[in-house]
Amino acid sequence: MKTVKKAIIPAAGFGTRNLPITKVLPKEMFPIAGKPAIQYIIEEAIESGIEEILIVVSRNKNMILDYFDRSLEYEAFLEKTGKQHLLNKIVGPAISIQYVRQPFADGLGTAILLGKRFASKDPFAVLLPDDIFLQSGQPALRELLDVYENYQSTVIALEKLNEKLLKNYGVVKAIDLQDNTYEISDIVEKPRSTPPSNLAVSGRYIFEPSIFSYLEKGGKGVGGEVQLTDAIQKLLKLEKCYGVEVSAKRYDIGTDKGYLNLIQKLMSNSKKEDE
Ligand code: G1P
Repeated sequence: MKTVKKAIIPAAGFGTRNLPITKVLPKEMFPIAGKPAIQYIIEEAIESGIEEILIVVSRNKNMILDYFDRSLEYEAFLEKTGKQHLLNKIVGPAISIQYVRQPFADGLGTAILLGKRFASKDPFAVLLPDDIFLQSGQPALRELLDVYENYQSTVIALEKLNEKLLKNYGVVKAIDLQDNTYEISDIVEKPRSTPPSNLAVSGRYIFEPSIFSYLEKGGKGVGGEVQLTDAIQKLLKLEKCYGVEVSAKRYDIGTDKGYLNLIQKLMSNSKKEDE
């Protein structure tokens, strides 16, 4: 049985939904209770059993590389001033992180294609860093991995959404199997009218390396971008694809509302801990 040990995090987008702050601060670095958003994604991957990560960045995302690098100046300062107890706050995550640069922001599909050498012959996860899942039980990605380990085929995270919101998402046509698991038969990126269901794609996927051949065949889709969804649509003609309705709550930090709701939720959790 194949298991998944590699993950790709595409973090090369312009962050236009979050302007003006994204002129200087990548949205992956938005602070959430003292940690940048992307650290929550890395922690979810580690807790799900991932051992190697590739982050796809762009020219203005060097802050992400700096953040996960050592900080010799801080280390020396904390040692010198007897604040060794703070050293554990600045050590990077215990996982191998590699980086690749996406020269043009021409879509999620192109970003994932840059991971072809990294994935090589192995299945891999994709975690979109806009979508942060607050864990109640299992990490969101772990739920997908459980389904992958059973079916050994593509798995996509799904969420039932209000019809008005579906135009902002990939939306699937699927048969309900059991235990929040679906078999997907079609997928459409950001449907303008008549979405195939109310099951939207949330930002977690497991792919076999065969996805790269479908990405390579792809032209530009919605928004003039190379869409991952279009490659999945091609894959569906030849391969099985499953969906999982994830139980953890998703916050889209690409919107002010999603970001503020996440902060509010963390505040109410910490108030409960204080009581
Ligand atoms: C991307 C995907 C879309 C998916 C969404 C989840 O869209 O293209 O299929 O539903 O992430 O967050 P984006 O949010 O980058 O426009």
